[in-house]
Amino acid sequence: MVATTEEVLELHGRVRECTACPLHLTRTQAVPGYGPVTARVMAVGEAPGENEDREGKPFVGAAGRLLTSLLESAGLDRRDIYITNIVKCRPPRNRDPEPLEVEACSHFLDEQIDLLQPDVILLLGRHALTRLLPGAGGISRLHGERVRHNDRVFVPLYHPAAALYNGGLKETLEADMRRVRGYLADAEAARARRAGGASASELRRVAASAGGDQMDLF
Ligand code: URA
Repeated sequence: MVATTEEVLELHGRVRECTACPLHLTRTQAVPGYGPVTARVMAVGEAPGENEDREGKPFVGAAGRLLTSLLESAGLDRRDIYITNIVKCRPPRNRDPEPLEVEACSHFLDEQIDLLQPDVILLLGRHALTRLLPGAGGISRLHGERVRHNDRVFVPLYHPAAALYNGGLKETLEADMRRVRGYLADAEAARARRAGGASASELRRVAASAGGDQMDLF
């Protein structure tokens, strides 16, 4: 069942108040995530940067603008996507998050995935890949591929910030992003089949409890 707005806002509230790791001492504000609770696609980055720390929303700086245009060029609308990060508070001077910070924060991301049940999860960069698909392989091998894990579909992608500094990566990222719509269509169809399957098996259960003969109807 899809989450309610209240459930997601309650989680965002807990993120904003979190003091579980030292990043709360240097943040302006935590950045829980942004997007509709009905989103079928979730995008997961690394950690907020300076702009995100100031505005309280993920991917609002230069990397965010590139993300928006990459999504658009692949026929996806950013407004339909729930965007968040592995770590919800900005590491000082945008350094990589420390393992202890990732550890302290990760349960929020797990809750976000459990609540929204997205059909496809985009892993933006190696930090998201390592956290959500540990041991699966590196970003240079897996980028653009569809990886199924724990009944979910993940798509590792290069981080948009990397493409800002490396023009060659931008073309790769564009090509990878174009594959996402097909993955989404497949995942939505699989979900619809599962829902249909569940109701058919429910009908069978009801029929069985009503008497053996009706089993033949199904
Ligand atoms: N980079 C990220 O990984 N996340 C943001 O929110 C912004 C930039």
